[in-house]
Amino acid sequence: MNKQTTLTFIFLMIFPLGIWAQLNQSTENKIADLLEKMTLEEKIGQMNQLNGFWDFTGPAPTGGDASSKYELVKTGRVGSMLNVRGVKDVRALQKLAVEESRLGIPIIFAFDLIHGYKTVMPIPLAEAASWDMELIKKSARISAIEATAVGLHWTFAPMVDITRDARWGRVMEGAGEDPYLGSLVAAARVKGFQGDDLKSNNTLIACAKHFLAYGFTESGKEYNTVELSESTLENIALPPFKATVDAGIRSFMTSFNDLNGIPATADKYHLRTKLKEEWGFSGLVVSDWGSIGEMVAHGYSKDGKQAAFHSITAGTDMDMEASLYTKHLLNLVKEGRVPEALIDDAVKRILRIKFEIGLFDDPYAYLDENREKELLNHPDHHTFAAEIARKSIVLLKNDNQLLPLKGKEKIALIGPLANDKNSPLGSWRIAADDNSAVSVLEGLKNIGKAPFVYEKGAELTVGATSFYNSLTINNTDKTGFKEAIEAAKKADKVVLILGENGFQSGEGRSRTRIDLPGVQEELLREIHQVNSNIILVVMSGRPLDLSWADQNIPTIVQAWQLGSQSGTAIAETLYGLSIPSGKLPMSFPRNVGQLPLYYNVKNTGRPNGSPSSPFWSHYTDEKNSPLYPFGHGLSYTEFAYSDLKLSANKMTKGEKITVSITVENTGDYDGEEVVQLYLRDEFSSLIRPIKELKGYKKIFLKKGTSQTLSFEITEDLLAFYSANKKREAELGTFKVYVGGNAATTRSKNFELVTE
Ligand code: NOJ
Repeated sequence: MNKQTTLTFIFLMIFPLGIWAQLNQSTENKIADLLEKMTLEEKIGQMNQLNGFWDFTGPAPTGGDASSKYELVKTGRVGSMLNVRGVKDVRALQKLAVEESRLGIPIIFAFDLIHGYKTVMPIPLAEAASWDMELIKKSARISAIEATAVGLHWTFAPMVDITRDARWGRVMEGAGEDPYLGSLVAAARVKGFQGDDLKSNNTLIACAKHFLAYGFTESGKEYNTVELSESTLENIALPPFKATVDAGIRSFMTSFNDLNGIPATADKYHLRTKLKEEWGFSGLVVSDWGSIGEMVAHGYSKDGKQAAFHSITAGTDMDMEASLYTKHLLNLVKEGRVPEALIDDAVKRILRIKFEIGLFDDPYAYLDENREKELLNHPDHHTFAAEIARKSIVLLKNDNQLLPLKGKEKIALIGPLANDKNSPLGSWRIAADDNSAVSVLEGLKNIGKAPFVYEKGAELTVGATSFYNSLTINNTDKTGFKEAIEAAKKADKVVLILGENGFQSGEGRSRTRIDLPGVQEELLREIHQVNSNIILVVMSGRPLDLSWADQNIPTIVQAWQLGSQSGTAIAETLYGLSIPSGKLPMSFPRNVGQLPLYYNVKNTGRPNGSPSSPFWSHYTDEKNSPLYPFGHGLSYTEFAYSDLKLSANKMTKGEKITVSITVENTGDYDGEEVVQLYLRDEFSSLIRPIKELKGYKKIFLKKGTSQTLSFEITEDLLAFYSANKKREAELGTFKVYVGGNAATTRSKNFELVTE
């Protein structure tokens, strides 16, 4: 090595970040050069996101037609479009932007790719039940491969809102109630969408939404107000968002709600100070659909102009579908109310992403008709969809080992969802072909283990069944009961497929009753009277109230909405070709009155009491505990936990201790178990939850074998956002729990000390 090479080598070893900054600098220089050439109108144009010409994912836009949108594109007044997809259409619009607008700045095309494009993956809540981050990442990767093949660059996912209230229809879109699991899922999905190289034409910009605290919408009602303490915000709502930034996410979306009186789209503290400054986020922030304009109805902005002022001041860089930036920002700058520097900052963020994904190198790089034909619904994608669907299924109970089916029994397959090919696709699957899922009936036929009879029993839905229309479930027709009951009488076992219509959850689908809709529970009860050997398979986009079923039905399988290969995965699970291993990412309530419900509660001053006294924290008509706790999920085999040990009962700050546990597969099948670690900080400057998930391991154990696992407890694991308004671990005693769900009582104590 000559002297110069050696010096370069040493320089590179010492200053890799410096070099990286220089490389980025060249992008920053390009952005600055372009910005210099832009008029103020063109800059504001980049901040405008318009819906395409046909489907919409918000209230239908009023006014304007396709030709006026073309004009806006040609004059550089559109930075991004949503819901335009397909190589042909994207190419046509991109051509207008690139070849006809003065500066030829390409458009970035966005879409709600929530759980798959044509190949539909399980709803995100179901995927979270797999607790398998590699699978979740791969699911997002495959979805990105299909979506980029139709010319898309940007998805409005992942939704990382922590959700504690099953009344809210959008719980199906997130990873459930826990910030630890939620953060891991959030990061996995970002990495899957964005891949390793943003310049590659199969990577998709991810978008963390909805910033902020949308999942805490009061009483589970859609678009409602949110009141949240700083502690809950910092310790529960924010961590998954921070995890997306750490995973390299390039965009954020503001939420519809107000948080403690300030609409999220105008929340300067959280957008500018927290996200952009403290967390160093250099990507772009887009509003939600029309949320800038909605600040007038909120009573925060007196008119559209003030709403635009509030949003740009707060740090919302792009206006989705309100067209208020294009309408008012020019005047606001001219009047001296909005400094042009704020516009420049927003535009830089938008251009930065366009440079990062290579749109300026080749605006047509994503557009290839052959790729589009080849990749949509690719068989490998369906093989994977079946795999992740199997891992998302949660066995809630299995008394008398009714499952797995042996293949010899006479089976009656009953229920309105048994041969439904649409509902398993779930909500937010706007690109999917209707009725394209494998139904349970088809899945069972494909396995071909034994002949079975099928009766629908009841209709589920009356009224419109699409993402765009509201849905009425008011069917009282019981004429199908008779045949179903007859079939049940003659069967050895009844497999009943009940639950929600696929559009009964998702945006705008809050419910005050979360029971089995329509006449389904009546059907269940009547069948139970003639044959109690019932395997109930529940398809839903949220935890339902299954109390009666829990008391009366021996076997219950939570099968969510599992996407294109739903029926394949369910049938294989019923026959034991796949052993269930999913664990609940949300607590299941005993009834709707318990909501919001979550395991990581704070203790009250009167957490316990006796039935003879009313004066403690409880309900007079229901238990405090959930029907099924967070983390719960059975297998066809059994796992026994023993030998919980700590390497020390004192932990010095800055050091670590180890907790170990032995898990044995004592049942008759090989199987997987999610071994969960929870901690409790017993005394603290701000009250801490009675348990918090802090780690887990998903292990495979052959029957009759055991494994000893260990987890490291570090100071960071004990840290929280304290009364000192910073993340820190406080001295004192802690409890460590290890078990198969959040209700575990197996624990050891230790103390955090200074020396
Ligand atoms: C409104 C929803 O809240 C948001 O999640 C979605 O991305 C936008 N509409 C665009 O469809």
